[in-house]
Order: sequence, then C-alpha cells, then structure tokens
Amino acid sequence: MIIGSISENKNIEKRVAIMPDIIKKYLALGIKVSITENYAVHLGIDDSEYESQGAQIFQSENEVISNSNALLQLSLPNDQNLNKLEKDQILIGVLNPFVNSKKLNEISSKKINCFSLELLPRITRAQSMDILSSQANLAGYKAVVDSFAFFQKAIPMMMTAAGTISAAKVLVVGAGVAGLQAIATAKRMGAIVFSTDVRLASKEQVESLGGKFLMVEGAENLETEGGYAKEASDDFKKKQEELLKETLKKIDIVVCTALIPGKKAPVIIKNDMIKVMQSGSVIYDLAASQGGNSELTKADEIVDSNGVKIMGETNILNKLPVSASNLFSKNMFNFVNNLFNKDKKNFNINLEDEIIEKTMVK
Ligand code: NAI
Repeated sequence: MIIGSISENKNIEKRVAIMPDIIKKYLALGIKVSITENYAVHLGIDDSEYESQGAQIFQSENEVISNSNALLQLSLPNDQNLNKLEKDQILIGVLNPFVNSKKLNEISSKKINCFSLELLPRITRAQSMDILSSQANLAGYKAVVDSFAFFQKAIPMMMTAAGTISAAKVLVVGAGVAGLQAIATAKRMGAIVFSTDVRLASKEQVESLGGKFLMVEGAENLETEGGYAKEASDDFKKKQEELLKETLKKIDIVVCTALIPGKKAPVIIKNDMIKVMQSGSVIYDLAASQGGNSELTKADEIVDSNGVKIMGETNILNKLPVSASNLFSKNMFNFVNNLFNKDKKNFNINLEDEIIEKTMVK
C-alpha cells in the first residue's frame, strides 16, 4: 500500500499532512510514502529530510495521486486533482463536508472513499486522532500570545520604584479545548482570567486552571451527550448579556472561542457591550470563520470601535504551522493505522468501526 500527499494551496493552508518523523511509522506498517517536491519547504523542511526518512519524492501531482492508495491532505484538493482520483482510492483530510457536500457527493459516487477528520466521534479510542482537539489547543494558546502582543500595555502586575502596573484582565468566552488552553496561557503570563460557558462541567475545569467562572444565574446545563454545547434559550442569553456587560467594563482582552457544532457561532459580545469597554481593549475572535462571537467581528480584519480593537482570525493555525503540522500528522497516522488491516496489509473500510463509519463522507 502507498499513501501520498500533494502540496496544499499555501496561500490558504500552510500545514502539511505528513511530517518527516512520522514516515518511519508508516514504513514499519509496510506502507510506502510519496509526496510532491518542495512539499514542506515553506516550513523550513527540505525534501532531503523526507527522502532520508524513506519517502519518495515526485515532481508532479499526477504521479503522487495515481500511485497512492490513499491521499492524505489538509483541505479538499482542487477540482483538477480531485478528477484524477479513481475508484477505490481513499481521500482523507479536513474536507469541510457541510460546505463541500456537492463535490464530495460527486467523488463518493465514483466509489472514491472520502474521510473527513472533523467528523471523528469524541470517544476515548479516537482521542489520538482528534484533530479538533490538537489544533484547538494550539489555537487557544496562539490567540492569547497574539492578542497580548497587540495589546498596548503589560500583562502581569509589576511593582516598580516608578509605580505599580496592574495585571491585565482577560475574559475567555467558551471554555472548550481552545478556551481552556487560552485560560492556562493567560494565567501563566500573569493575567487575571475570567471565563463563561454554557456547559456547567466547564466551571470546575476553569477554576482548576485558576480562572474565575462567570456563572449565569439559574443556568441549566446546556451540554449534549457528546459533550458539545446546545443553543442557549433567550432567557439564558439575556442573563448572560447582563453579566458580561457588567464584567466587560473592567476587561482588557477578550478571547472568543464559543462554537456550536454545525451552526453559526453564537453572537455573545453585542455592540452595546463593546461600547462599555475601555479604549485600547482588544477582542480576539477565534470564532470569526463561523461568523464570530462578537457582533462587530469581520473575518481577517481589525475593526476599531471607539478604540476597542476587534480582531477576526480565521486561520490562526497558519501562524504556527510547524507545531500544528506535527500534531496533525500524528493524528493522521493514528487514523490511517486504524484503517489499515495489519494481517492482510491493505486498507479495510470496516463500517462497524464507529470511527470509520462516522468519518466517512457518504
Ligand atoms: P467547541 O469548539 O464546539 O466550542 C467551544 C466552547 O464554546 C464549548 O465549551 C462550548 O460549550 C462553548 N459555547 C458554546 N456556546 C456558548 C455560549 N453561548 N456561551 C458560552 N460558551 C459557549 O467545543 P470543543 O472545544 O471542541 O469541546 C467540546 C467538548 O468536547 C468539551 O466538553 C470537551 O471537554 C469535550 N472533548 C472531549 C474529547 C474526548 O475525546 N472525549 C476530546 C476533546 C474535547
């Protein structure tokens, strides 16, 4: 069996699906690895590093695609490359099935097996493959580092002969994987951290990281069986708004991470709440690609509202693509390993395996 990966469109995606150090694991399973030339040069990784680990380098995308039993990518390849895939080949990536459903239906109808890793079930056995967690964790960290760098004041409290600088106050909206890492990072850098979430289970997690959980009065637990958030009631939203409006008067930096799977991101920081914030404050919106948690967020723009800067970030992982690729490439290997039949030395699409069944785009 051979797996391959072609260069991503680097204007959009800087991560890669195969890093050099994972190649030996594929080879140990009896799977060969092929990639296109200059595959990760933009990350400072030369083709020779891949070659020395045992990968085969091809000049053309054609050769990689036609030689591979499975093509491992980040994004859905362009139409030209998709059309080169043939019956029984496998495509694995972050294929965004909600947006790309038409194209994916077309290739699935040619009996090309497509797997989209954002559909992985959040079960224990899938944790090592969970790209949402590995990437969200890095996103939460980077959002704090970026927003702190943009903020015009120091973060930790400093007592000096020239006077005292008070610690910056940070609000993290949504305490899932990204939010919890944001809280931990902001605490480590000396900020005072507050957080809000609709899942009550997150209260204990926020507090264990030293954050203060903002409890909406009479909050019911809005958690699905799968551990995700449900949409909040109008009553909850109103109470959350009142609580946040009061809190935001003293907040310097807001990091937004709140999402509801398959839906537009909830708008939590309304325009009238932004108006009470101090000039110079920063709202860093990681939910921007889903519409944003702040009413004024614009994707990949910095909006200035009376001195409050609202930063809409849609692909923060492009800002730490090496770390993100390292984790992604391990998640990908673990997924491929589960798909591979070690006795028969082939890929086995066993739809009785929940991981395979749930990720397959049908
Ligand atoms: P996510 O990215 O879908 O959402 C981020 C956070 O926003 C969530 O905590 C959600 O409750 C919160 N949120 C949604 N609407 C909100 C609102 N109106 N106001 C405030 N907060 C709001 O979630 P993520 O980070 O993917 O994690 C979801 C859950 O999955 C968590 O419970 C996490 O611990 C769990 N999980 C389980 C794993 C497993 O393998 N068992 C692996 C990773 C996460």
